[in-house]
Amino acid sequence: MILVVAAGANDTADICARLDQLGAGAPSIAAPNERRRLVLATVDNPAEAGRVAELLRDEGYAAIARPADGPALEAWMRHTQPIRVGGRLTVCFAWSEHDCDDSPGLIELGPGGFGNGEHPTTRMLLEVLIERVHGGERVLDVGCGTGVLGLGALELGASRVTAVDLKPEAIAATRRNAAWNAMGQRVDATVEPLHTIAGSFDAIVANIGRGAAVELAPQLRRLLRPGGWLAVSGISPSQCSLIAGFLRPLVEVDQRTSGEWAAVVLAQDDQ
Ligand SMILES: C[S@@+](CC[C@H](N)C(=O)[O-])C[C@H]1O[C@@H](n2cnc3c(N)ncnc32)[C@H](O)[C@@H]1O
Repeated sequence: MILVVAAGANDTADICARLDQLGAGAPSIAAPNERRRLVLATVDNPAEAGRVAELLRDEGYAAIARPADGPALEAWMRHTQPIRVGGRLTVCFAWSEHDCDDSPGLIELGPGGFGNGEHPTTRMLLEVLIERVHGGERVLDVGCGTGVLGLGALELGASRVTAVDLKPEAIAATRRNAAWNAMGQRVDATVEPLHTIAGSFDAIVANIGRGAAVELAPQLRRLLRPGGWLAVSGISPSQCSLIAGFLRPLVEVDQRTSGEWAAVVLAQDDQ
């Protein structure tokens, strides 16, 4: 197995020293883009590689053990390819070895949380953000997972993001990812339930599925500023009108589908 640890351009020496302490010596360094370095070390025993990767993740590093060769490596390389959305956003894992120097709107994600940009429900909301974020928006990311949608909004010019999720590990991942992408100062991530959130938002993205969208509909309406827009994903095409019904007096202004999935965008009637 190969242990891959992502680092900033100036942090590789510390990681090499730590790998040496852990018995994973003689690493090599790769540079998939200008600001990111990868420290790669061979660990023959797969269980040991997994253990060291987990230990490093517990210490806050974006670390993973990947196959060394063969079909498993080919599959891994396909799985870690940067995901490009609409020519303006690129999402990739921090440990991706693909060259992404010229990737527009690059967001890099470390371990934990759901949402690497690949799933249609995430991708459709990234497309909505590309169309609708014009700059300066305060965005609420409900069910943030990795924080990918909020980070995408910031990359597109939004000013601040509040990110909420039921799961503490999603909040931890969102905070780590925000810091990794130098957006930590503009992201407030919290596990607090939506009814405790104050203020109002220019845009809300919620890839949370039908059940949570229905349950949270009164809060979503409350938190959207007059003139703002709200996009819900994780639903089927036939559920769009049901969701719109729960969010009245907002009305559907856009809908997109991808296979069995749909996303619906709502706003006030006069827009
Ligand atoms: C499908 S993932 C979406 C992750 C990411 N936003 C994306 O688009 O890829 C749904 C997330 O919503 C969270 N979630 C589900 N119900 C929720 C609720 N009532 N309040 C807050 N978060 C919720 C889950 O924990 C999960 O992280």
